[in-house]
Amino acid sequence: MADCIHKKNLLLSIESSCDDSSIAITCVDDYKIVFSEKVSQESEHDKYGGVVPELASRLHLEALPKIFAKTERYFPYLCAVAVTTAPGLKVSLTQGVSMAKAISIGLDIPLIPINHLQGHIYSLFIQKETQFPICCLLVSGGHTKLMQVEKNSSKTIGETMDDSFGESYDKVAKMLGLSYPGGPIVEQYALSGDENRWTFPVPLRQSPQIMFSYSGLKNAVRIVINKEPNLDKQTKSDICASFQKTAVSHIIMKLKKHFRTNPPQNFAVVGGASANIYLQDELKKLLAKFDCANFQAPLMKYCGDNAEMIGRCAIEKQRKPL
Ligand code: KG4
Ligand code: ZN
Repeated sequence: MADCIHKKNLLLSIESSCDDSSIAITCVDDYKIVFSEKVSQESEHDKYGGVVPELASRLHLEALPKIFAKTERYFPYLCAVAVTTAPGLKVSLTQGVSMAKAISIGLDIPLIPINHLQGHIYSLFIQKETQFPICCLLVSGGHTKLMQVEKNSSKTIGETMDDSFGESYDKVAKMLGLSYPGGPIVEQYALSGDENRWTFPVPLRQSPQIMFSYSGLKNAVRIVINKEPNLDKQTKSDICASFQKTAVSHIIMKLKKHFRTNPPQNFAVVGGASANIYLQDELKKLLAKFDCANFQAPLMKYCGDNAEMIGRCAIEKQRKPL
């Protein structure tokens, strides 16, 4: 066993808000991850072009107990169990929450409820000390949100009015007959595409408000797809590249507006879609213009949903109210 296991100082965390079943065990003293495993359901949902809630729930019910069985040797050292309670798919969340309740009662340890979005912020600090304040962009399948995060509080600066950034990639992929989740595959196709073949209107370009919208862009892409007689690989790549350029420009323009009155000191991007290198590169270029050198993103393996971030968040929550 790892050195840090010497007393009741381990926290078990569970994440099952969407289509990933994940359990981690973190040492509360030094934040070291002593166990982690994630079972992704992506290939199962791919057959249906998106997440099917009932299927997700059944797959969590199969995967979570199998992962949990591997953690038995840590039981004597567990001091708490943390679980994502919201937001997410109800039927998926329920599986993790039921398991956490059973562990809490069975081992007589406290249960710590964690908000999934807070968890994503803490994906920046897995096995590390926290660093606040930070201006944080969350881009996932369910959210597009710009926040100012302080040590004990967080304020929303702007969020999406409709679809999220990641969701728009999923929908474009589906329209093009590409696999689920759409983010990685659309980003990959875009690499060999011509981003100037189509000019899609940048959402909310004239609006002074810091808010996001992706449903109009999705519909503009749909019109192009419906009109295109030949959807060969190159055409699909060009559509992906033109779409991605606009989707990211939208974020960059809104951030620029915000930074003019609130110059960034520390900036981070989190959430499943923070794995997008094109987005990260454009963010870095923008931050350079505002002389902000402190750009953070989670390690690639922690961009998507994972129990490690829930555990790290819970350790902080145990110490003080978030
Ligand atoms: O955080 P996450 O794993 O689950 C939610 O909380 O929603 O985010 C999943 C989302 C999906 O919409 C997926 O397509 C998107 O993140 N995503 C990406 C990329 N990788 C994942 N979007 C754009 N580019 C990527 N490379
Ligand atoms: Zn997430």
